[in-house]
Amino acid sequence: MGIIIKGNLFYIQSKEMSMIIENREGDLLLRHIGGKIANYHGSNAILEKDHAFSGNPTPDNRTFSYDTQRQIFGVHGFGDFRCPSLKIQHDNNELTQFKLKDSHILHGVVEATGLPSPHSTESAETLVFVLEDEFAKLRLTLYYTAYADCTSISTFAKISNLSDKAVVINRALSTMLDVPASNYDVITLQGAYAREKTVRRQKVEQGIFSIASNRGASGHAQTPAMILCDGTATEEAGQALALQLLYSGNFQAFVQKNQLNEVRLGIGINDDNFAWQLAAGDNFETPVALMTYSAKGLTHLSQESQLFVQNHIMPKQFAHVERPILINNWEATYFDFKKEKLLDLADEASKLGIELFVLDDGWFGNRFDDNRALGDWVVNEEKLGGPLSDLIDKVHAKGLKFGLWFEPEMISVDSDLYRAHPDWAIQAEGRAHTYSRNQLVLNLANPDVVAYIKSAIDKILTENAIDYVKWDYNRNITNIGNGDSALATKMQSHVYMLGLYDLVSYLTEKHSNILFESCSGGGGRNDLGMMRYFPQVWASDNTDAISRLPIQYGSSYLYPIISMGSHVSASPNHQMGRTTPIETRGNVAMMGNLGYELDLTSLPESDKEVIAAQVAHYKDIRQVVQFGKHYRLINPEQGANEAAVQFVYEGKTVVTYVRTLSTIETIETTLKLKGLEEVATYRLQETGQVFSGAELMYAGLTVTLPQGDYLSQQYYFVKQ
Ligand code: GLA
Repeated sequence: MGIIIKGNLFYIQSKEMSMIIENREGDLLLRHIGGKIANYHGSNAILEKDHAFSGNPTPDNRTFSYDTQRQIFGVHGFGDFRCPSLKIQHDNNELTQFKLKDSHILHGVVEATGLPSPHSTESAETLVFVLEDEFAKLRLTLYYTAYADCTSISTFAKISNLSDKAVVINRALSTMLDVPASNYDVITLQGAYAREKTVRRQKVEQGIFSIASNRGASGHAQTPAMILCDGTATEEAGQALALQLLYSGNFQAFVQKNQLNEVRLGIGINDDNFAWQLAAGDNFETPVALMTYSAKGLTHLSQESQLFVQNHIMPKQFAHVERPILINNWEATYFDFKKEKLLDLADEASKLGIELFVLDDGWFGNRFDDNRALGDWVVNEEKLGGPLSDLIDKVHAKGLKFGLWFEPEMISVDSDLYRAHPDWAIQAEGRAHTYSRNQLVLNLANPDVVAYIKSAIDKILTENAIDYVKWDYNRNITNIGNGDSALATKMQSHVYMLGLYDLVSYLTEKHSNILFESCSGGGGRNDLGMMRYFPQVWASDNTDAISRLPIQYGSSYLYPIISMGSHVSASPNHQMGRTTPIETRGNVAMMGNLGYELDLTSLPESDKEVIAAQVAHYKDIRQVVQFGKHYRLINPEQGANEAAVQFVYEGKTVVTYVRTLSTIETIETTLKLKGLEEVATYRLQETGQVFSGAELMYAGLTVTLPQGDYLSQQYYFVKQ
């Protein structure tokens, strides 16, 4: 476990994973990444042939080329014709050739400065490679951290300018991996607003397949992650390797298959609209990348990634703590509320057993609609019928916690903040603004702006007994042009992210008792960068139970279920117009962190009875869902008519099955459960029937639903 050095081989060993790197005369070559190997004797014969047209850096040696060697960062400009990891402009070119100067092992985790990093832990070890390009006077330091309890390795790179003049970094990936030729598939999580985390799987062919964001946020349409798996991999079998980035801004991830069918993967900051001026003596650190491996299929890959995120990324004080069942007033009232309405809603919620009341958008400044007042974080006492603390006291008195919505990174033109500081918006001087939801983005690359937001939000959180914050971000960045020079503007997007991480780490550390949920019009910034500070995320603005199935399926691929906010909303649904039974809306929302987002005060008694029962039941199964192992039994791929998931925790298991449309003349579905003990007896709580674990796993559980659309069934078994 940890880091082992044997001769010229470096072994980076996590729980079920090895990365083996060879030092070959100063070049670092990737011998293996994947299943655990204690002793490696591999030969490199295939790569040491005279592959015509591959450049050879050594005279009279036509068998060594950077183009055919498997590397951990691409040497740029010396015969490796694949996508490089670095492009650093120095003198009149971007050539770099780094050679190993030193390596050492550190205990624990090394954090990337100012960037989201895994928590420090005693059970981790970090291998540090120090490389130098003596000609360009640059140093490259690579950090690889191995974890004893997880099958993941984290890594990042630091570039140091040892020369006496500035250089410009034009590309700096966080990590790169070259893996042997094979038939691979690549899986990405894509989609759109209200359709986030759609699982896309395709064959890796010669050429480059990449995903990227240039929105200033990771975006709804892609996730900073890429999974390379055997073309034959299934949920239960086959090898898979996930690359993820702990970053919430512009990113890129690619897979490249070259002319020899060798495959290169990379992930890091997007170099579109990026450059970094590195002054003499300065350092630049890339965001942290995460590699997770499974030899046992995609479900196991997900479980390993979920475990790592929960154990090493999420704020510790929330990672293993049950999350409250909430009521959010957004779809209940939108902007149309007064104190009385909010208290009626809280009253009803409390009677139904709900635990947290969240006041969404519209409580501050002149915010009567979404065209104005962002930036004016002053309570609108007229609308709230008095000070915020009064409302909070009343909500607390009903036995509910209190949560509040903010959108701190934004500014409306119609706001006191804009009238005072029009230059604080991201903009290109002299040009008209580009609007989105009629709002602009504050320039978090300006420390004054960050200081203002820190104090404005801190004041409200300090003066009021707030238990939860929903941190929203409802547009993407355009008109980037605040720099003093073109180069400074190219640095702006990343400086923004450093400002954002400074802001959120300050507020979440100072108010460490507050549960923060991140949101960006739903899942527009649902990434590991935000999850390092905000342990919960509003997965989508689409609250339709049926539309949620593929969104929740995609979210489960890499992120823990405990991170996922999932609400029961009105029927017909506001986004889709679909009418879905309250039972199915509840069953789907119970596949994540249950919440309600509808006007409880106007529901028929029969619905309220169902909700009260759901809330009580969720309290029974909450640990199983939030702390349990998650298994995907039937995947709601596009066009699929069914979905089923299972959670297993401490002898308990919850199974949820949803059928979209009623069918006729097809036999009922049998679900083969997973992760149970063969010889144990499990009691179905709803009926008292008992089954053996082997029976549930190998003979299965046959679902019987009456005819009807959008029906579902949830089963809760407890080991006897
Ligand atoms: C975004 C969020 C919603 C809600 C509104 C408020 O769209 O995703 O949940 O908070 O903003 O304006």
